[in-house]
Amino acid sequence: MFTGRNNGRPRRCIFYILAFLFSQFLFVIILLRSESFDNVPLSQQTKHDNDSWEHYLDWREFISYTSERSAKFYLYNLNLSDTLGVIRKLPSTRHYSCGYRPRNLPPPSKANVSVVISFHNEARSMLLRTIVSLLARTPEDYLHELILVDDGSQDVTLLADLKRWMGGVFGASRRLGVQFLVNRERKGLIWSRNRGASLAGGHYVLFLDSHCEVNEGWLEPLLERLTLSPQLAVSPVLDPIDPLTLGYRKGNELLKGGFDWSLHFHWLRRQLAEKELPEMPYKSPAFAGGILMMSREWFLKLGGFNSYLKIWGGESIELAIKLWLCGGQIEIVPCSRIGHIFRRRHAFDFPPQSDAQETYLHRMLIGFAIPHFSPTQYSNSKIIAESWLDEYKNMFYALRPAARRIPLDYTSDEMQQLSRQRQCQPFEWYLRHVSPELRMQFEELAATGSLRNGDRCLHARQKDAQLMLASCHHGDVTQWSMLRSSGQLSTQRELCLGVASTKRITLEPCGRNETTRMTQRWLRLGTHLLHAGTLQCLDNPLRDRLELSVCRPHAPSQSFQFALEMETHT
Ligand SMILES: *[C@@H]1O[C@H](CO)[C@@H](O)[C@H](O)[C@H]1NC(C)=O
Ligand SMILES: *[C@@H]1O[C@H](CO)[C@@H](O)[C@H](O)[C@H]1NC(C)=O
Ligand SMILES: *[C@@H]1O[C@H](CO)[C@@H](O)[C@H](O)[C@H]1NC(C)=O
Repeated sequence: MFTGRNNGRPRRCIFYILAFLFSQFLFVIILLRSESFDNVPLSQQTKHDNDSWEHYLDWREFISYTSERSAKFYLYNLNLSDTLGVIRKLPSTRHYSCGYRPRNLPPPSKANVSVVISFHNEARSMLLRTIVSLLARTPEDYLHELILVDDGSQDVTLLADLKRWMGGVFGASRRLGVQFLVNRERKGLIWSRNRGASLAGGHYVLFLDSHCEVNEGWLEPLLERLTLSPQLAVSPVLDPIDPLTLGYRKGNELLKGGFDWSLHFHWLRRQLAEKELPEMPYKSPAFAGGILMMSREWFLKLGGFNSYLKIWGGESIELAIKLWLCGGQIEIVPCSRIGHIFRRRHAFDFPPQSDAQETYLHRMLIGFAIPHFSPTQYSNSKIIAESWLDEYKNMFYALRPAARRIPLDYTSDEMQQLSRQRQCQPFEWYLRHVSPELRMQFEELAATGSLRNGDRCLHARQKDAQLMLASCHHGDVTQWSMLRSSGQLSTQRELCLGVASTKRITLEPCGRNETTRMTQRWLRLGTHLLHAGTLQCLDNPLRDRLELSVCRPHAPSQSFQFALEMETHT
């Protein structure tokens, strides 16, 4: 009995040990397997996307010459960009029907495209990914050429290295033409794009940014629309690529491009018509960002991007106005998707994902403050206003008074020449037929601009929003907007003039409910501002006092004049 037990123990021990070893073995196998799924570099995962694996080795060398710069310099995650590989698989973000719907495409001999990419200090890995994604996902026959314009980048060997790299990788296998242009001194995006277009030989020209990744099937839906109408210009829907994580998200096809009366770009939410599907092409008052494609001939006929504009800023708004007024149209095509890094610095250009429609309209109405509106942007906007806005340019000046003082080297007459030559419509037409949003702003505004009492202007101090009367000639003197429907008197920072229960005049966030509407509601009586809740008038009886008092028709201390007062539309 004892023997039996003694004999059984070692056997059981061996069994347990074997079982233990086996389970460890299994565990290690499972661990290894899961690791082999998680830790494959992204560059390898993309291997099947293209024959990029061997090029990956080459590209490492090419990007290793990227100049040492902080992430701030590029405004995106350079380290991550360098590890992502020359091309990666992107999620399909368009509607599933876009992929299988038959398309009416003209033969390549009748419709090919020149792609113009102008860049200034772009990181090598980012630029290369833009180029390679384009070449990998564009039907070869339709791609006439690639025109790369290096606009005075500090990386002086970039273009030569790029030429060598592309020669090595694509030289033998593709008949694609590539033009390499360089501006030794920076001439700006506008100049560079115009130069690229003037040298282009394709039927169509696509202006692409240098921090993009084109998605599968981006070209065909655009081409199909363009061949229907020679004066059309099209944009894809831009899928935002996060500058920090480089994550690729689905862009919003319910947005269109537009601008406010300061000539600043805004995304506008569109309403779908009955039976209109979100994936169908739709008209837009302006382009969705700076990526657009149109007939090269038509682009040149329109004078290209206005060459009076400097560096960048406003050029695609100018082209949009010009197009619409001179017989063209703009469409956004949701079946075409191009990924684009929206950098944080231009936060205003970032397409919204949420449904904050009211905020957008409100911001547009009061000419939402732009933190760093540079002198170039002022002068570019002024040129647009002088060239195209006719008498509506006064709206622009009322919101951007500093632009009045900016000298221009040429007369508005010169600028209006194109408009006359091409027999373009007046700006009124654009308001009526293209941008109801802009017209609505105009109709909603009762008055706008600085608000003068005697020789001083009502000013909301920037740092603490303290109300005061300040010199009207001060550059940042507050621009007010009086809204017709709510009677609110708003600054560009969305603060409204209100009255506290103690009858003290206050500045508080503009409200949208009934309570705030009574305390923030003003009526215009001649040059008086009558507060609706108390039926008393805004008054400046002593030099630095602002109060409500009984309205007196001819009291100068109660007379407040806006820079621009609209006629009543009744
Ligand atoms: C990027 O990589 C460099 C060198 O490997 C390192 O010094 C730097 O801290 C990294 N930057 C970021 C933002 O991770
Ligand atoms: C593109 O079209 C132009 C103009 O018809 C033609 O000269 C050129 O050869 C075409 N390019 C390609 C690559 O087919
Ligand atoms: C109205 O809005 C203000 C601020 O915008 C808020 O303090 C107040 O509670 C709101 N009143 C009502 C009745 O919702």
